Amino acid sequence: MKHLNLSQTDGLARLTFDRQESSANIFDTETLEELLAVVTQIREDVSITSLLICSAKSNIFVAGADIKSLASATPGELATLIDLGHQVFQILEDLTIPTVACIHGACLGGGYELALACDWRIASDAAATKIGLPETQLGIIPAWGGSTRLPKLIGLTQALPLILSGKVLSAASAQRKGLVDQVAPKEHIDQLAQKFLAKEPRKLSSHLLLHSKASTYIIEARARKELIKLTRGLYPAPLKAIEVICKSVHTPAHISFRNERDAVIELTSQPETARLINLFSMREKAKKLGIPDIKPNEIKHPVVIGSGTMGAGIAYWLSSHHYPVLLKDVNDQALAKGMKSISKTYQTAVNRHIMSQAEASNCYDRIHASAETLPLLNHDLIIEAAVENIEVKKQIFADLSPRCSEDCILATNTSALPIHELADVVTNPSRIVGLHFFNPVHRMPLVEIVRAPSTSPQTLATAISFVQGIGKIPVVVKDSPGFLVNRILVPYLLEACNIFASGIDPFEIDEAMLEFGMPMGPLRLLDEIGLDVASHVAGTLTAAFSDRMSMPPLMDKMIEAGYLGRKTGKGFYLYNGHKAEPNTDLLQMRSSRDSSAQKIAEQLTRLMTEEAAHCLDEEIAESAESIDFAMVMGTGYAPFRGGPLRHADATEMMRPRFYPATKHKVTTS
Ligand code: NAI
Repeated sequence: MKHLNLSQTDGLARLTFDRQESSANIFDTETLEELLAVVTQIREDVSITSLLICSAKSNIFVAGADIKSLASATPGELATLIDLGHQVFQILEDLTIPTVACIHGACLGGGYELALACDWRIASDAAATKIGLPETQLGIIPAWGGSTRLPKLIGLTQALPLILSGKVLSAASAQRKGLVDQVAPKEHIDQLAQKFLAKEPRKLSSHLLLHSKASTYIIEARARKELIKLTRGLYPAPLKAIEVICKSVHTPAHISFRNERDAVIELTSQPETARLINLFSMREKAKKLGIPDIKPNEIKHPVVIGSGTMGAGIAYWLSSHHYPVLLKDVNDQALAKGMKSISKTYQTAVNRHIMSQAEASNCYDRIHASAETLPLLNHDLIIEAAVENIEVKKQIFADLSPRCSEDCILATNTSALPIHELADVVTNPSRIVGLHFFNPVHRMPLVEIVRAPSTSPQTLATAISFVQGIGKIPVVVKDSPGFLVNRILVPYLLEACNIFASGIDPFEIDEAMLEFGMPMGPLRLLDEIGLDVASHVAGTLTAAFSDRMSMPPLMDKMIEAGYLGRKTGKGFYLYNGHKAEPNTDLLQMRSSRDSSAQKIAEQLTRLMTEEAAHCLDEEIAESAESIDFAMVMGTGYAPFRGGPLRHADATEMMRPRFYPATKHKVTTS
């Protein structure tokens, strides 16, 4: 066998997943066929009295199905693959001996469906252990028994939100929700799993009341209503999942499996699914990005300069990824404010069970905050996140450069300023690079890596590898005003201001973009960013692209009046706790006009597409795909539409401009 090993000691069979020439275990036809042979052999072998399933990989149990083969399969091939999975997992479930999945590392999609077919599931408490059924995020549903077996295990009301959101859980959360039976340190899970094998055969709860016809009807209606409120019905997969899951509790398993299969075949024929799978492939590609023939330096001692919104966010993120961080600012008051915000973010992580109180305290203690002038010779990366002012940044870099070693990487988190101007003030400008994190740092996955003309391949390779190492997604962009994401976003935000100034209600504008699939309307987004911050970034862009971008006069008036957004409690909306009401004081600053939601959405998205097309022409990023990917990851641009360029091609089907060669096709890395 190429991907599985089977050994046996005293009646205990140990089945180990160890995919050949790969660091990950995944399910493709070949692996499923091997598994079929193994489970059949175990079924026939009377000397085997129990079965333990584990993985030989350091951080992966089984990561799920091979997305590449899924994306390129014909409906017939897909049906065969899904049926094969059902057959194999059914044999496993039907074994008369006790079975246990001993989970350490990623146990996702098909990997968790394999575990679901076992009697027991034991998981390690390592951070690498992630458990869940994320299929809906790819535009499909769990179809190797997951949509059928999970509701039977934990009940419909627990299973539905997990499958509909595609949420991936830590081992502790998975145990709380009943997805695994017990969690233990990695070194103990094997022994613990063997104890479970000695138990009486497992009896699942029948969920008799919960799964009665009447309850199911109510649960289904409620789930549908909540989903439509959340997604506006724009995503076909979770809608289909509700249908299949709710039917499953009253249907024989083999019929429910057929429903799972038919749903996936139907969903994969839809363009939304192809776009979501493409984004997944781009994400995988970004994780493997590197510079050929260059070994990145290992970063051990980063410094963050500025403890405001972004500096504190970056220091939080680095310390939570095991880096000791030196955090600097101009004075102790500024640092205290930054540390308070970091402490609050850690507390939120504890409250949400992302980490334990002890872990949070350990991470927090890794940050050393100081306003003193300290030697920086032992530091290998400095990330500057001070105010957005080129003169301040030049001063900081000129001062730093002689105080740190010649090969310490000097990075700036500037939103839009020219990086090459900072290169002019340092010795060895080959180590200058932009590391543009997005706000809030702990939520936004993207980091733009800005390559200045002087940035060396070694610096670039190190920046990429560092960003990957902290679990963020790197996209390499050219040093140009606003780089990529802000350059495309700013004209959209400015136009939303202009539309508002012309007499349209803020709710109407934001609603139009929510209907389009954006996670937040442009005026709410401006309020969240802060009108002063947005105006700084927009100022750089309007100066650079004055032929097509200009500052709305309303923006200056709002800043003058102190309407800065959420931080002052007033912006386009008035903030009272979490509630946002339209700011009626602003109404006299505008004229009136008529419009419709669709017209607004078309007008605003067209601007993003046009700017994205300019970025493509100027080679700000590598390809149309990279631009679209960065917009989805950096702004939440409606993922099912695939990004501004793909969206434009989809609406101009007769003459796609940006993806002519891959029209309607899914591309995989
Ligand atoms: P902020 O105003 O919240 O914080 C700036 C911090 O820098 C303050 O604590 C200030 O005391 C400190 N500072 C000023 N001069 C300094 C100096 N000479 N040495 C050390 N510290 C100094 O600003 P924010 O929002 O954190 O932005 C920081 C940088 O990140 C800016 O370049 C901004 O454009 C960029 N950025 C901001 C985003 C946002 O949404 N706020 C998003 C992405 C990038």
